[in-house]
Amino acid sequence: MSKDIEIVRTVADLRQRLAAWRQEDRTIGLVPTMGALHDGHFSLVDKAVQSNDRTVTSLFVNPKQFGPGEDLDVYPRDEVADAAALSERGVDLLFAPSVEEMYPDGAVTAVSVPGIGDLLEGGFRPGFFTGVATVVAKLLIQSLPHRAYFGEKDYQQLCVIRRLTKDLDLPIEIIACPIVREPDGLALSSRNAYLKAEERQAAPALHQALINSGKDIANGAAVSASVAAAKSELLNAGFTKVDYIAVCDPASLEELENVTGQARILGAAWLGKTRLIDNIAINT
Ligand code: PAF
Repeated sequence: MSKDIEIVRTVADLRQRLAAWRQEDRTIGLVPTMGALHDGHFSLVDKAVQSNDRTVTSLFVNPKQFGPGEDLDVYPRDEVADAAALSERGVDLLFAPSVEEMYPDGAVTAVSVPGIGDLLEGGFRPGFFTGVATVVAKLLIQSLPHRAYFGEKDYQQLCVIRRLTKDLDLPIEIIACPIVREPDGLALSSRNAYLKAEERQAAPALHQALINSGKDIANGAAVSASVAAAKSELLNAGFTKVDYIAVCDPASLEELENVTGQARILGAAWLGKTRLIDNIAINT
């Protein structure tokens, strides 16, 4: 369903458009993104377009979620291509603010989600989830959609956003969308574009290591042994460093020593200069 997309750059314009839709009793879906859109994003967009009368996508490369030495300056950006693809998929409005518009006057207020935001990614990327939670809270408050869509690829981010939405009493339904993968299993990510040819070949080993670990645990292996095996598997496949492989409670993300019932296995590992994350659900 192709339609002309409108691009707004200020919070005031965003609010004005959305207020008009609310007055007409239209349901609104929000898909927050940092651009460099791929089929993973499009799966969220398609779900939002199907389930709501109006769909808004935000495109904002949020500096507050990049640490020193991370890839803020080289993060892939192509607003023209992104807007055309969103228009093609039936998105009504693209909100693409500047950094000054999102964080005027230095905007010092931050939203932090201690506990779940300090684990795993939070330990390796200090400040990351405060950056994510701050921008997502702002986007949710600015647009007050009925539903907001996030991918399970960033599973911990999804948990953090669910928590902030609950804690801040935001009357918004958070919709989780399944990971979209390449045919060889690699989870789609804008950062896959950084992979050199030989790294790209090795990359699906992350998904495979999680699958193998899940099978081992289901077959009765100890969690610690299956995690150690997954780490070795990754290093043997050409990964240069493993930040973590963790078997966690799917809601709290507390690490589990034994799995009875549902769990999530999450992993983060490096191929040269590129850091990949992935996760799978298991049910024993
Ligand atoms: O997942 C992302 O692309 C970003 O973390 C998000 C949710 C758009 C916040 O900047």
